[in-house]
Amino acid sequence: MGTQMLKLRKQYGSIFSFKYGQLESVLISDPKVLKQVLASDDSAARPHLYYTTNLVYMNQNIGLICSEGDPWKEQRRFCLKSMRDFGFGKTSMEVSIMAELEDLVGSLKPADAKAGESFVTQLDERVAATVLNSLWMIVAGSRLHLDDPEFQHTLKIIQIEFNPAIIASMFPSFIPFLPMKLIGMGPERRNGIQRSYAWMKAFVDHHKETLDPSSSRDFVDAYLIEQIRLKESGNSDHSFTDLNLQAVLFDLFVTGAETTSTGLKWFFLYMVEHPEIQAKVHEEIEAVIGVRAPEWNDHLKMHYTQAAIHEMWRIPSVAPAGIEHLLLKDKEIGGYLIPKGTMIQGLIYAIHTDPTYWKDPMLYNPNRFLNESGEFHIEHKDAYLPFEIGKRQCLGENVARITTFLAVATLLQKFRFRKVPGKKYNLEPKPNSNVVNGPFPYEVLVEVWE
Ligand code: HEM
Repeated sequence: MGTQMLKLRKQYGSIFSFKYGQLESVLISDPKVLKQVLASDDSAARPHLYYTTNLVYMNQNIGLICSEGDPWKEQRRFCLKSMRDFGFGKTSMEVSIMAELEDLVGSLKPADAKAGESFVTQLDERVAATVLNSLWMIVAGSRLHLDDPEFQHTLKIIQIEFNPAIIASMFPSFIPFLPMKLIGMGPERRNGIQRSYAWMKAFVDHHKETLDPSSSRDFVDAYLIEQIRLKESGNSDHSFTDLNLQAVLFDLFVTGAETTSTGLKWFFLYMVEHPEIQAKVHEEIEAVIGVRAPEWNDHLKMHYTQAAIHEMWRIPSVAPAGIEHLLLKDKEIGGYLIPKGTMIQGLIYAIHTDPTYWKDPMLYNPNRFLNESGEFHIEHKDAYLPFEIGKRQCLGENVARITTFLAVATLLQKFRFRKVPGKKYNLEPKPNSNVVNGPFPYEVLVEVWE
């Protein structure tokens, strides 16, 4: 996706139109124009792609990622309010994340491991499981059992990298004439999505059975308490239905499963590739945190670590083209009149690697995020948008920032990560990474610090 984007931008400039099958779209890699477009309510809708609208959301305006209008505003506002102050309920977000990270450290380090000892592990997979579990703890108050067939099933369902169903979504008027099974939209997939909804429903049912309306344990409780409040006030004109709660949980699972952990996979890959940068992050951890457990507030004093994390979010761009928007009104964009109904996509990867803003853009260099006094600083704020910008800006940005910082600080405090001798490491993204730009799987040599 990334390299194709760069080729197109080189050929056609920073605003060009592109036809995805029957869908007219405009791709923007001018950050000022993109910011202007995404700030407007006129582009806060999503295109009705057959795959998402029909298959995943059953032609209903539900969930967070693809919903629109008042239901989207209501659900988004509620989620943001629940996330504020770093936690959904009794257990604060930071405590949940640290509990999962401590488990990860324990599982990476054999009980009898001595300082300086090293062993090989598939770090990327383990980090991904930790991130997902800490998110699920905040959302649903429980850990996900990675060998649970329902968990594995939903994980498979959301892997929507260039599959035939997405390609078919680009030709909506042909869909009635296409063999559903062949394009991946047959009963199997439909039933598969229903099964994921049923899995979400089981979390909700369990919460209903154990709910104490005077105190919420997690996000699901907060949602159920909001339902009770609305019912008691006689308000029935709202979107807080049981089905919507299942769809919101599904969306939080989708976003939580892929994004933050993909960033961390890239981070540790850069660390093994650049041991001198890893050593500087470790030195800063020793100087600021020492041996106690890291806290989110530490990030304010850890300029180099912040720079190393932000540089990681820049180059591969976890979400290289963000999520598609839909124009609700005719609009002038960068000097062109674009008709309503056009799909809008921000080419984040192209902006993040544009040499106008980033010198030697493909070079991993945290120093570009430091000012002359060595403080963390983003020089070209307009051209840095890993979480996109505007009305639909990432809803989990804070969760992602806190989780990423704590994971980096905890793991680099305890371990040094190196290449496994004889193994090749690839810094190119996996091909066909459509929605999320991930690295190839890799193993690392983990060495226990003194
Ligand atoms: C490094 C990690 C992450 C990155 C890079 C990222 C990036 C993005 C981007 C680019 C968008 C599209 C914004 C737009 O349409 O304009 C988005 C949307 C969204 N993200 Fe994230 N995200 C991350 C982590 C998370 C996490 C952890 C959560 C959940 C807790 C989350 C929840 C969402 C949701 C619900 C939306 C849809 C918002 C809406 O349509 O109103 N994200 N994210």
